[in-house]
Formats: sequence, C-alpha cells, structure tokens
Amino acid sequence: KEPLRIGVAGLGTVGASVIRILNTQASLIEEKTGRPVVVTAVSARDRSKDRGIDLSGYQWFDNAADMAASSDVDCIVELIGGADGMAYETIEKAIANGKHVVTANKALLAKHGLKLAAAAEKKDTALAFEASVAGGIPVIKILREGMSANRIKRIYGILNGTCNYILSRMENERMTFQDCLKDAQKLGYAEADPTFDVEGFDTAHKLALLSSLAFGTEVDADSIYVEGISSISPLDITMAGELGYRIKLLGVAEYGKNGLEQRVHPTMVPKTSAIAQVMGVTNAVTIDADAVKELTLIGPGAGGDATASAVVADLTDVAADAVPLPFGVSAASLIKATSAGMQLH
Ligand code: NDP
Ligand code: HSE
Repeated sequence: KEPLRIGVAGLGTVGASVIRILNTQASLIEEKTGRPVVVTAVSARDRSKDRGIDLSGYQWFDNAADMAASSDVDCIVELIGGADGMAYETIEKAIANGKHVVTANKALLAKHGLKLAAAAEKKDTALAFEASVAGGIPVIKILREGMSANRIKRIYGILNGTCNYILSRMENERMTFQDCLKDAQKLGYAEADPTFDVEGFDTAHKLALLSSLAFGTEVDADSIYVEGISSISPLDITMAGELGYRIKLLGVAEYGKNGLEQRVHPTMVPKTSAIAQVMGVTNAVTIDADAVKELTLIGPGAGGDATASAVVADLTDVAADAVPLPFGVSAASLIKATSAGMQLH
C-alpha cells in the first residue's frame, strides 16, 4: 500500500515526541495498519532550534498553512496550539485541500470544533483529536465507539495534568505554587500560556469536548462555570487535609432536567475516594452511564510521549482508513438537535 505522508506542524514538546515515536515504532505501525506512516514535511517558527531529533530528511515549511496545501502531504498533524492564528489557518486549509487532520488542540476544537467537523465531513477527510483530552488516555475513542449501549448521565474528572501536578507537590512536598508551576513548564506539561491551565480554561475546553461526545450536544465551552486553582493556598490544602479531604481541580458535566450543566472548580474530595489517589500529572475520567454503571479511566494527562501516543493512535486510524465522524454523529445534526433543546443520544 502507498505510505500515509504526514506533515507535522509544530515541533515542540508533543511534535518532537510524535516524530520520535513514528520513527522508533515504524514497523509496528506498518504491521498494524498494513501501510507505512512516514513524515515528509515539518513546520515550526525557528528552523535553527535543536529539538533533539534529526529533521534533515523532511521538507521544511516556514509557513505551516503552505504545508497544508502541499502535494507531498496526505495528513496534517497540528501541534502548534492556540484557538486561532496559524493553528486554525493550517487546519482549515488542510481540510479545504482534502487532507486528513490530527490535532491535540483542545482550545481550537472547543471554539471551532463543530465548524471544522462539518467541513471535514463535506470533504470526506478525517478530523481526529484523541490527544486533545486527557493526554495519553484514549477517552475520546471510548466515548465515541465504546458507549453505544449507554445513556450517559454524568462525566467528570481531573482533566489538567499541570494543575494536578501543582496541587500534588504543594501537598506532598510543601512547595510553593510558583515553584510547582515552573517545574510543570520545564517538564512540558503546561500550555504556552499557563493561565489556561491554572485558571481552569484548559479543563473547560476538554470538558466541552467530552460533553459533546457523551451527551450528543453542541460543543459549548462558553456556558461553563470556570474557577481555577491560582488562589489555592498551602493553608487551604493543610486545612482540607486535617478535615480528611484533598483538593482537586475537577471538570463535571451532567445532563439533567435543566439540560446540560458544566462546571470547573477546585473540589474537596474525601482522601479515601479513588479520585483523591490520582496524583501528579495523572488524569482521571469517570463516566456514569445506565448500562455500564461507572467506568473510570486513569493515566498520564500531559507530557510529550504520553500525548504523542494518542496522536499516533489517531494516525494509525487514518492510515487504516478507520476514523469515524469527529463527534460520532454528523456535526449538522448535533447543532440542529441542540438548538431544538435536545440531545442526540
Ligand atoms: P510547544 O509550545 O512545546 O510547541 C509548539 C510548537 O509550535 C513549537 O515548535 C513552535 O515553534 C510551533 N509554532 C508556534 N507558532 C507557530 C507558527 N506560527 N507556525 C509554525 N509553528 C509554530 O507546545 P506543545 O507541544 O506542548 O503543545 C502543542 C499542542 O498540543 C497544543 O495545542 C497543546 O495544547 C496540545 N497538548 C499539549 C500537551 C502537552 O503535554 N504539552 C498535552 C496535550 C495537548 P518553535 O519551536 O520554532 O518555537
Ligand atoms: N497543559 C495541559 C495539561 C496539557 O497540563 O493537562 C495536556 O492537555
């Protein structure tokens, strides 16, 4: 079979890991998909930066959107970040040119996801985004493909690795908020603008995507109540501990009598609960549903290799021509149902 030719836009923490994994696991991926998956082109801002990977065999594009129109590329992997700007331009152009798209960009999807999904549907191209929620945990696949027999009542969890890492170290090592955040940045966990992490917006973006997949409603990040962890003090953590609780930043979404309710805020959870045991950069997502009852997924929520694992999983689906509709159902029907005050499933 012809190789699937990849253009990687963004060569930072996740982009560099994706290229490394595609190279080291090349034969495994070909075995699984029956087709080689090869990087042919790359784009970032600074061509001279040492990224610890050999880029000499790839075509370099100063402009990622130009790469999205290249005839040497079948699939764009967008790992630039940001809801608009070059990330958006690149994805939009890739779809318009009939290329498949894989992205980890939850900020962009929370704002433009359904519009881009509709465009991808029209062009019959893939728009895959497993890495956009909960890093290495394949929660999108589970929601989209593994829950068909269920009506989901509630979905909640720890969706930001940076915040859980900060809260864990503040508690266990008595470190300051600022020192923990600096370490999270050094380790590549935090967003380019860490306000998105610590003020809860990143959790909100992810929750909006999960809600859409879980409840069959439009992606709606704007209506989420959002409160982050930047004002949590060491004293708050100590006092919670003395009362038998641990503080976690949770994203919670439920579909009830009043429709969809979504919120993000620091929450006191009993120290004996399962979610209280989730420490460090780890994320956890719990799905309450009628048939399966309760299902919890726990795993690495951020970091280059963990996130690249999800990106490469999407790429193997693209190579095998096995990517379902981005939100499991047509984007147009999701929008129509929500505007009629209904959920699709
Ligand atoms: P980084 O900041 O490490 O990397 C961003 C990359 O984008 C850099 O290589 C940068 O170039 C490049 N870039 C920035 N602007 C442009 C532009 N205009 N044109 C071309 N390239 C550009 O980000 P991450 O790798 O951490 O994150 C990438 C995406 O993945 C984001 O959407 C993020 O939210 C998401 N994500 C990140 C996770 C993580 O753990 N880090 C986990 C899950 C999702 P240069 O290097 O030259 O400056
Ligand atoms: N900044 C994000 C986090 C990256 O810490 O969870 C993973 O989406």
